[in-house]
Amino acid sequence: MKRWLAILILLGAIVGVGVFLASRKKSPPVPVDLTVFFTCDARGRLVPCGCFSGQYGGLTRLKTVLDQEGGTNSIRADVGNAIRGKEDYNLIEYKYMLQAYAAMNFDALNLGHREAQLSADQLSALKNESPVTLISANLLDKKSGSPLVEPYKIINRGKYKVALLGLMDSQMQNESLGAGVGLEKMEVTLERLLPELKRKADVVILLAFTDEVSLSRLAQEFYELDIILGGKVSQPSQKLDKENRSLILYTANEGRALGRLKAKVSGHGKVAAVDHEIKLLQDQIPESDAVRSMAEKYRKEVRATKLSVDDPANLQDNMVPGVKVTAAYVGSQNCVECHKTAAKVWQESGHAEAMNTLINRSADADPNCIACHTVGFGSPSGYRREFAGKKLVDVGCESCHGPGSLHVEQRQKQLPITFKFRPLGAGDCQKCHFGEFSRPFDWNRFWPHIQHGKEPVRNAALGKDKQ
Ligand code: HEC
Ligand code: HEC
Ligand code: HEC
Ligand code: HEC
Repeated sequence: MKRWLAILILLGAIVGVGVFLASRKKSPPVPVDLTVFFTCDARGRLVPCGCFSGQYGGLTRLKTVLDQEGGTNSIRADVGNAIRGKEDYNLIEYKYMLQAYAAMNFDALNLGHREAQLSADQLSALKNESPVTLISANLLDKKSGSPLVEPYKIINRGKYKVALLGLMDSQMQNESLGAGVGLEKMEVTLERLLPELKRKADVVILLAFTDEVSLSRLAQEFYELDIILGGKVSQPSQKLDKENRSLILYTANEGRALGRLKAKVSGHGKVAAVDHEIKLLQDQIPESDAVRSMAEKYRKEVRATKLSVDDPANLQDNMVPGVKVTAAYVGSQNCVECHKTAAKVWQESGHAEAMNTLINRSADADPNCIACHTVGFGSPSGYRREFAGKKLVDVGCESCHGPGSLHVEQRQKQLPITFKFRPLGAGDCQKCHFGEFSRPFDWNRFWPHIQHGKEPVRNAALGKDKQ
């Protein structure tokens, strides 16, 4: 009698659980609004450099904006190229950037072509040390063929599971892959991973470091992708594309823009766009103190660290491809005695103050800054950090004219003149005056401020200057 009762209760329980599970499967979770914030291409812009007023961007401003946005069910991700380059000081800067992204609650950072220049060892170390998840599904360890960082990350929003999947295209231009790093074609990776991801997640968001054409091609080929965020594009676009089953939105621009896509998820993962915006991080946006202090820490650490650029043995003489440099840098004070008129113009110009500008900002040991605010930094006879602002400082005569040792020697000792400085033009200014480092450069507006030239030769007979 008792046994029958126990079996009956057990059966009842089994049926009950069955009904419960079935009902759960039938009725989908409550729909949610997801707000996806994304950035791309920060290229080391922890803080704006300050080279002219009115500059946009910087993680300092990004944090201010994201702090205000808040919102439940938000997702934050970077599409790639957050690091500036592959130098040792770039890695130090990246470490503080990763702290900033973590402080902004980023869910994941995809790797771009700049990160792909790091070696497999460096990337593996970053995977363990980074306070924010790094993802890339197609950047592989050449030896083992397995991903160097997490291929994707699954997060919960409402009752939905959202997968963030990271990829970069294989068209690497000037940059080349780091030692021990392999790159798989995006399509191959997607074919391999999507079936697995579709089982694990309701919504798939692809972070794709690639151009507009590839973004829409991926949407055409893979119906599983709900949202595709790019990318490696020339300009951010306000346009939201709908291709096949995907919503496509992209941004770029040296970290000067923040993308936002609001979407409604319903059913078993049906995604519809609600609204979207690419917001420019304008100069009026106040900079976050928390991120500014990370930048200060970066500058302190970089000042105290011995870097590869500090050793002249690591530097190359011919910085300009094809132009063999035979002369060495001697410093502007070696030019002034013979070129008094030019020297006066120069001394009164901002160029002669360029190092002080950096010292005032504690940026005088930051290789990211001193390259354009000193003479010949990066070439063996040029400025080195150990000079501590004592010589070859400022935008000197030779920053534009080139190394002058041969000229000075031949002129001083009245030797036959075999060396001539080459004529200069606007292009020589634009190696420093470009992009975020300058107001838009216009020769006709800029040159008159610093115009100088040959010493006027006194014509004894006429008693006036000959041209
Ligand atoms: C690619 C070259 C380049 C690099 C790199 C660079 N600068 Fe500049 N900087 C310039 C130029 C050019 C100007 C003048 C811009 C103008 O007049 O419009 C300038 C001007 C400035 C000024 C304004 C000076 C004034 O008084 O008007 C500051 C401040 C400054 N730079 C700081 C920095 C810092 C800090 C860094 C590193 C994060 C940096 N720069 C990196 C080229 C550079
Ligand atoms: C001992 C005197 C002397 C010194 C020092 C000197 N120059 Fe000259 N420089 C001359 C004379 C003389 C000429 C030819 C006349 C002229 O063009 O004014 C000349 C010409 C030039 C020219 C025109 C192109 C050329 O090669 O003839 C440039 C540019 C120039 N000097 C830059 C510099 C710079 C930069 C320095 C410092 C690194 C420097 N000079 C140091 C005497 C000197
Ligand atoms: C090696 C990098 C470099 C090159 C090359 C360069 N500049 Fe500059 N320029 C700077 C920096 C840095 C500043 C800001 C200096 C400061 O105030 O700290 C600046 C500032 C200026 C300014 C504003 C300051 C003033 O005195 O009015 C003018 C104008 C200017 N540059 C014109 C030119 C022109 C014209 C050329 C080319 C003939 C040129 N520059 C080449 C780095 C450079
Ligand atoms: C910001 C860039 C820049 C700086 C700094 C600069 N020059 Fe020049 N210089 C030029 C340009 C541009 C010209 C005009 C084009 C040319 O002649 O190559 C010129 C012309 C000259 C000429 C005349 C060349 C000729 O053949 O007519 C002399 C001499 C000269 N500079 C000397 C100097 C000396 C000395 C200094 C430092 C005290 C100096 N320059 C600093 C860019 C610069």
